[in-house]
Amino acid sequence: MYMNFWYPVVRSEDLGTTPQKVRILAHDFVVFRDEQGKPAVLSDTCVHRGASLSGGKCKEDGTVQCPYHGWRFNRDGVCTRIPSIGKATKPPPRARVDAYPVEEKYGILFAFLGDLPADQRPPIMPVDEHGTDAWRSTLVVFEINYHYERSIENGLDPAHNEYVHPTHGYQGEREDTYLMTELRPHQNNPWGYGFLSTFDAPPLKNPIMRQFRKEGGKMEAGSGTYGPNHMWTYINFSPKTAMHQYMFEAPIDENRTRVFLLNQRNIGFFKNSKMGAIGRLIKPRINAWLDKKINERNMFIASQDIKVMNNVKPTLTPPSRAKELMMPADKVILQYRDKLDEFEARGWKLDMAAVRAAREQGDVIFAIPSPARRETNAWVLDEAPRLAPRASAPQATLQAAGG
Ligand code: FES
Ligand SMILES: [Fe+2]
Repeated sequence: MYMNFWYPVVRSEDLGTTPQKVRILAHDFVVFRDEQGKPAVLSDTCVHRGASLSGGKCKEDGTVQCPYHGWRFNRDGVCTRIPSIGKATKPPPRARVDAYPVEEKYGILFAFLGDLPADQRPPIMPVDEHGTDAWRSTLVVFEINYHYERSIENGLDPAHNEYVHPTHGYQGEREDTYLMTELRPHQNNPWGYGFLSTFDAPPLKNPIMRQFRKEGGKMEAGSGTYGPNHMWTYINFSPKTAMHQYMFEAPIDENRTRVFLLNQRNIGFFKNSKMGAIGRLIKPRINAWLDKKINERNMFIASQDIKVMNNVKPTLTPPSRAKELMMPADKVILQYRDKLDEFEARGWKLDMAAVRAAREQGDVIFAIPSPARRETNAWVLDEAPRLAPRASAPQATLQAAGG
């Protein structure tokens, strides 16, 4: 797991002035809105004597108040009040918790979990369709019981659709024509790789999905990554009809992942610009019903993946690539791992063995370092341990031929 990327925290509409505890990267955060509605994401451990700030209250001065002895922390993580020393005494400089940069986009609150200054941060994956009249957007959030890298690799994998998703392929019945050797690079970017491929797919039976494609035949689909935890999937059913899905994944810990699935579709809804006065009474309701059906269908497809993924071993991807046998269709998975190696070479990979050992021992708690750590050394908690940067040669080209 890597620090220095944007992680989805909570759906914007689910966040108010009641503090919530959210675990990401095996660390706890408190999330709340201040009195002006501005969101805050702070390390959850109170630096006084370790209480969980998410068990406290939001106060009218925009702070979160610790439930144990009433210390107050503002959106910047700075302690503004220690009741036991009196109102007139200023809290000491070390009375602060890490506060993380936040951004609300696509209906999701993101937090930058790391210490890079603003101009060096990898961005949130762009979603150009979002907010346009031609595309309709829906968001579902769900949790899965496996590592987020396993999840991303499954989403990237072009060869599984034929077997895992009956709606996408022929379940091997047409094995003589089923080939996944031609992956066209698409949307390669500084933070990830992607591809598109063309393949045979059956007609869609679901009455709503038939709007996307009535006939069987060739269709185009592909996926790519943006950082360790953002992924896109394009399903171009026909030259005019498409679903573009954007997955923002938050590793809760090594065995659990929270997925924010943002689905964009360009058919199967009434466009806002085409609604007259009467249409505005009824069409939004039909749109909402169609949204629900689309989300249900996406979750049904996800359940087919989850069933397989729950039993993949080992639970984490093996550190040696010799312990799997990759084929050309797995090239994009190797490219993803190459990017992860690049992030490790930058020194962003958390040392989970050390985090786990400290937790088992029970007498240390870490915080993911925030940008303010570069300005002052006055912190109470130690930074989460990271692996020393390790350079490695790209593997994708070496192994993509099935070597
Ligand atoms: S532990 Fe938070 S105020 Fe004492
Ligand atoms: Fe799948």
